[in-house]
Amino acid sequence: MTKPALTLIGAGRMGSALMGGWLKGGFAGKIDVVDPNPSTALADLAASGEIRLNPPVTPAETLIVAVKPQVFASVSEDIRSHIGPGTTVLSIMAGVSLETLETRLGTPDVARAMPNTPGLVGKGVTLLCFKDGTDAETQNRLRGLLEPLGTVEGPISEDLLPAATAISGCGPAYGFLLAEVMAAAGIAHGLEEGMAHRLARKTVEGAGALMEASPETAATLRQNVTSPNGVTQAALEVLMRDPAMPSLFVEAIAAAIARDRELSQETA
Ligand SMILES: NC(=O)c1ccc[n+]([C@@H]2O[C@H](COP(=O)([O-])OP(=O)(O)OC[C@H]3O[C@@H](n4cnc5c(N)ncnc54)[C@H](OP(=O)(O)O)[C@@H]3O)[C@@H](O)[C@H]2O)c1
Repeated sequence: MTKPALTLIGAGRMGSALMGGWLKGGFAGKIDVVDPNPSTALADLAASGEIRLNPPVTPAETLIVAVKPQVFASVSEDIRSHIGPGTTVLSIMAGVSLETLETRLGTPDVARAMPNTPGLVGKGVTLLCFKDGTDAETQNRLRGLLEPLGTVEGPISEDLLPAATAISGCGPAYGFLLAEVMAAAGIAHGLEEGMAHRLARKTVEGAGALMEASPETAATLRQNVTSPNGVTQAALEVLMRDPAMPSLFVEAIAAAIARDRELSQETA
């Protein structure tokens, strides 16, 4: 049996995280990486023979496209040169539809994935989106390639991808914002700045770790730390009243979905 082979186009933050995962997981095949300005780390991996960097162009078996959506239109001709009749393309670009991929790359064998930044430390969630009729072997192969980033969810229909992206793709920013505004509130109430930031950061980290370790739902975990008529309840009544966090989030997710749709139009 021939060994599998991957070609990665764009080894920035996400591309490098994927590549790191493949190498760490002992990917059995050949990894080709295409990037115009490779980092020193990438050059070192090429020097030690773990990857091939900017090798001569040949049709790829599986082609992972991890360039920014904004440059996709201008580099799609170059990407096309890596595509042959047996190539499967997996794009992790935000907002570039299956239809646009198909049109610009000139192949029907395309799929999409939407990772998130915790994938950089193996704690991500990646959404998968396939065209109707994508065979099970291809689906499983692509799923396996994304597992180094963490949990892989889906497949999800492309119609729902903007809503799912607004939760998991953008969600790390909401978690960071929570730490930010908690710290700012602590400062407003007299805490020393460094202390406020440490308390907020470690608390958000700890809540995430506790949620990871527990089978309980987020709502149950919240209820478990809320004594009736206690201090936490007093704060939560402010955060959860209407209009506060729940309705603000519905509005925020709607804004993210609208922007995702706009970006899809711009990259089409
Ligand atoms: N970061 C996230 O949270 C996240 C989440 C979901 C999806 N994504 C998607 O992942 C993709 C990559 O994001 P990123 O954060 O990793 O971006 P990034 O760090 O900017 O990585 C993109 C890489 O592609 C390289 N590149 C540019 N033109 C190229 C070409 N013609 N051929 C090969 N490589 C080329 C860039 O090189 P230069 O820097 O020299 O231009 C850079 O190394 C984006 O499409 C984004 O939508 C990212």
